[in-house]
Amino acid sequence: MNQSEIIIPESSLDRDCTTLSRHVLQQLQSFSAEAQDLSAIMSRIALAGKLIARRLSHAGLMEGVLGFTGESNIQGESVKKMDVYANEVFISVFKQSGLVCRLASEEMEKPYYIPENCPIGRYTLLYDPIDGSSNVDINLNVGSIFSIRQQQGDDLEGEATDLFQNGYQQIAAGYILYGPSTMLVYSLGHGVHSFILDPSLGEFILAQENIKMPPHGPIYSTNEGNFWQWEEPFRDYTRYVHRHEGYTARYSGALVGDIHRILMQGGVFLYPGTKKKPEGKLRLLYETAPLGFLVEQAGGKVSTGSENLLEFIPSYLHQRTPVILGSIEDVELVESFIQDHLKREN
Ligand code: AHG
Ligand code: MN
Ligand code: MN
Repeated sequence: MNQSEIIIPESSLDRDCTTLSRHVLQQLQSFSAEAQDLSAIMSRIALAGKLIARRLSHAGLMEGVLGFTGESNIQGESVKKMDVYANEVFISVFKQSGLVCRLASEEMEKPYYIPENCPIGRYTLLYDPIDGSSNVDINLNVGSIFSIRQQQGDDLEGEATDLFQNGYQQIAAGYILYGPSTMLVYSLGHGVHSFILDPSLGEFILAQENIKMPPHGPIYSTNEGNFWQWEEPFRDYTRYVHRHEGYTARYSGALVGDIHRILMQGGVFLYPGTKKKPEGKLRLLYETAPLGFLVEQAGGKVSTGSENLLEFIPSYLHQRTPVILGSIEDVELVESFIQDHLKREN
């Protein structure tokens, strides 16, 4: 059969050409400068994902890649070498981009400014470079979480306080899941879409568009080791799912993997506050707000337990909040225990 007779089904070729940067322009239905900027930013995030995935795939065979640095970060947590590497990757991919002037990372106390991009670059990237660090040395899934916001005003004090806005101010949000395949899931506010890295192309190729969560799912995902520290409503909810058929516990210790499971299969993830730490563990601006944005876009719900998490306005960069996130019916079941408790108290 000569070359001209080889018929490549339109769908497979077109599918292989539906890269992330093309999809952004399709989503925005525009070739404006802003659309091109966002497309370029997402391409850079994809490059960060490829660099981190490559490092993770060889980590066990290389010196100095795994394990702890011996330092603690602003969170008071021990830092893994992969946390530092991944944090540097995100900084490097945005240099000379002209797009992103500021980076706010779980691993950096203050916002990081890329001088050549400021003040022209009006975008800010907030990110958790490696989420689920406890998994990284044992070859279990980890992720990166990202959120893109528009700079408001001139930020003359260099504290990026204009970032302290609610989750609906996010322009885009998403995560990269380093699992059996490397997957990027994102939303620009027009639905949730997933891409899978095709190593033979070195491109993230569209896998699923407009992901929708079921209104209910069997999974509840939480660290029950904290049960003894929880307020009563969360204990009552846990007793309920223990006593009723149709629930199953899944918890990996890595937020991105746990949320991806719930996004795809339904259910609820919860990380409540405790008596010692009422605000909980998870950070709003680069963990739960981006993931909550995705979940709401997919038809789910995200709550702090007392309000819509996406309405919550932080007062400092690394602010934490309790989080209940997932299928509407399951989030509302957890909330019902909180409301019942409040009624009994009043
Ligand atoms: P990170 O590795 O970025 O610090 O995030 C870890 C977070 C999150 O991924 C996970 O859901 C949670 O910590 C697990 O906390 P516990 O070990 O307390 O359950
Ligand atoms: Mn994290
Ligand atoms: Mn992290």
